Amino acid sequence: MAEIVILPGSPDEAKAAAGELAADLIARVVRGKPDAVLGLATGSTPLPVWSALAARDLDWSRVQGFALDEYVGLPAGHPESYRAVITREVVDTLGLTPTLVHVPGDDGGEIATAGQRYEAAIAAAGGVDIQVLGIGRTGHIGFNEPGSSFASRTRVKTLTEATRLDNARFFDSIDDVPRHCLTQGLGTILDARALVLLAFGEAKADAIAGAVEGPVSASLPGSAIQLHPEVTVLVDEAAASKLRFADYYRYAWDNRPDWAHWS
Ligand code: PGA
Repeated sequence: MAEIVILPGSPDEAKAAAGELAADLIARVVRGKPDAVLGLATGSTPLPVWSALAARDLDWSRVQGFALDEYVGLPAGHPESYRAVITREVVDTLGLTPTLVHVPGDDGGEIATAGQRYEAAIAAAGGVDIQVLGIGRTGHIGFNEPGSSFASRTRVKTLTEATRLDNARFFDSIDDVPRHCLTQGLGTILDARALVLLAFGEAKADAIAGAVEGPVSASLPGSAIQLHPEVTVLVDEAAASKLRFADYYRYAWDNRPDWAHWS
């Protein structure tokens, strides 16, 4: 089922509430499966999820993690490499076991075959139980920019200039933002047992409308979520502002059956 939850209130209130709901979903998975496999996302959007989870009483010692993506070409140990970001924002915040958390390309092997090795590592871990997703203005999930195949697996991609501009805030200059990345494919993401996509702010409204209401198209890679049977979309009013059926989503959430997984 797809659940579209529009969180009311100020931007900060909505982010905190979305973080709590995503944490509810993840906590349920971790309680039921101590060696659960989490799909981890970077960017500003998932930060409320990690802070909400940090406040929960959960045993993280056996939980495994696989990041969605990584830049290609940054010097090892660069503070904005997604390895460093995941360590800082997720591993350290939650107290995950560092050796159980993986980022594409971090095994020291060749970049050209890193995607296949990453896919094999995810499969060996038993597949991703729940994947956290943000969405870019271009509609990307992971770094699957427009044109990405819905069947794609982890591989090297070229970032759009829009994405490089959006991410330049983390670097001294846009010239420092890599042009290439390794990213889980849309097919990889769709293999996760559950997806939780979060988006906040007006700048994400078009991407959310396209992802949730379609058409399903490689031109808006986030629309791939419509093909997944277990998706939760958590958005604030601004990110929801272009949803055609927003009133229905609010109604459905307000009247969610008490046997639903949220109860
Ligand atoms: P953001 O990035 O959370 O920093 O907005 C989302 C994304 O690009 O997927």
